[in-house]
Amino acid sequence: MERFFGKLENSLKDGTIIKMTLSKPVLKNNELRNVYIKPVLLKNNKMYQFVYRYERRDETKNFDAAQMMGQVRGLVPEVFQNVSLFTLTEDVTLLVSKKGKPTFMCKPVKEQRTQDLSHDHEKQRLIDPSKPWWYLLGLTTREGKVMADMQHKFKQICKYVEIVDGVMRQTKFDGEIHIADMGAGKGYLTFALYEYLTTLYDKIIIMEGVEIRKELVLKINDIIEKCKDARPCVSTIHFVQNSIDEYKPSKLDVLIALHACDTATDDAILKGIRNNAKLIICAPCCHKQIRREMEKSGKTDAMTRFGIFLERQAVMITDAVRALVLEYCGYKTQVMEFIEIDNTPKNVLLVGRKSDKPVDKESIAKK
Ligand SMILES: C[S@@+](CC[C@H](N)C(=O)[O-])C[C@H]1O[C@@H](n2cnc3c(N)ncnc32)[C@H](O)[C@@H]1O
Repeated sequence: MERFFGKLENSLKDGTIIKMTLSKPVLKNNELRNVYIKPVLLKNNKMYQFVYRYERRDETKNFDAAQMMGQVRGLVPEVFQNVSLFTLTEDVTLLVSKKGKPTFMCKPVKEQRTQDLSHDHEKQRLIDPSKPWWYLLGLTTREGKVMADMQHKFKQICKYVEIVDGVMRQTKFDGEIHIADMGAGKGYLTFALYEYLTTLYDKIIIMEGVEIRKELVLKINDIIEKCKDARPCVSTIHFVQNSIDEYKPSKLDVLIALHACDTATDDAILKGIRNNAKLIICAPCCHKQIRREMEKSGKTDAMTRFGIFLERQAVMITDAVRALVLEYCGYKTQVMEFIEIDNTPKNVLLVGRKSDKPVDKESIAKK
């Protein structure tokens, strides 16, 4: 074990570390799955960026060399059994068996390697605000700077894209990936996810934005036409003027919806289920159906007598029912907050993954 930590310490001292990965959690159900570490330059100081990969999200922290050693010692072997260290000259591996027996391996590298000291900056660079569509869609200035009043929207779509990417990476797709964004509005999320995936994935991405407002759809398709020579190429993104209800996709692998209003989130979930989408990822907007029914009954109690409580009850009930409906239809479902509440109070994300496992429909129906 100490031979490994000696190698790590030396690579920090002589600045040869390229990256390090901690894997194989000791506890199989540990929410923290991996830690990815790399050196980064922050204001001209060498720091070490830790990306903590949890089952549903990533968390990034930066440490100096001493803190970095402390962090790694705290995680290995208590939390992770395997560590791979890549340096400019060596590949070093530490494997710790279940019984705590360490195996140390070190292999010189033959090829010439280089270091990348750039920071991930929350992957925002993969959504590049200087791309021409962002200005035409009204998110940035002509110079490609996100406008002050669009900062929160930009952050929202970046976070959403990050989560969709994480979920998609755990899903097997055959051939082209067909994605539909329901209630796409001005298309910010649609373009962001498209740009991100076409930059990163080697599969063909077919993206459709579904929006009921005709003038918006005409405008966005016109923007796509204007950007047809840009990179990444926008040849497989298209907007369809239709209600979600009537939209007929040729194939649907991933369904996304961000704040599709009124009961459009429910239409979207149904569309995903009926088309056997592998993934259904929705951040709901309103909860009008339940709200209307609660109000219609005219009854209130301690939980609903104040308007704000009634509203929150409607949200809880609606989203709980949406999650149950997904589960009933064979989707392994998670509910999470996708962004801080001060960005948007509508920050709940429902993630459904189609599963082959049998479900107890009767008990779900009872619930
Ligand atoms: C609040 S906006 C969200 C837009 C976009 N997803 C975003 O987050 O930037 C909701 C959009 O859904 C559209 N919409 C609402 N109901 C719809 C339906 N049944 N079918 C298609 N689009 C719908 C609205 O016209 C509106 O543009």
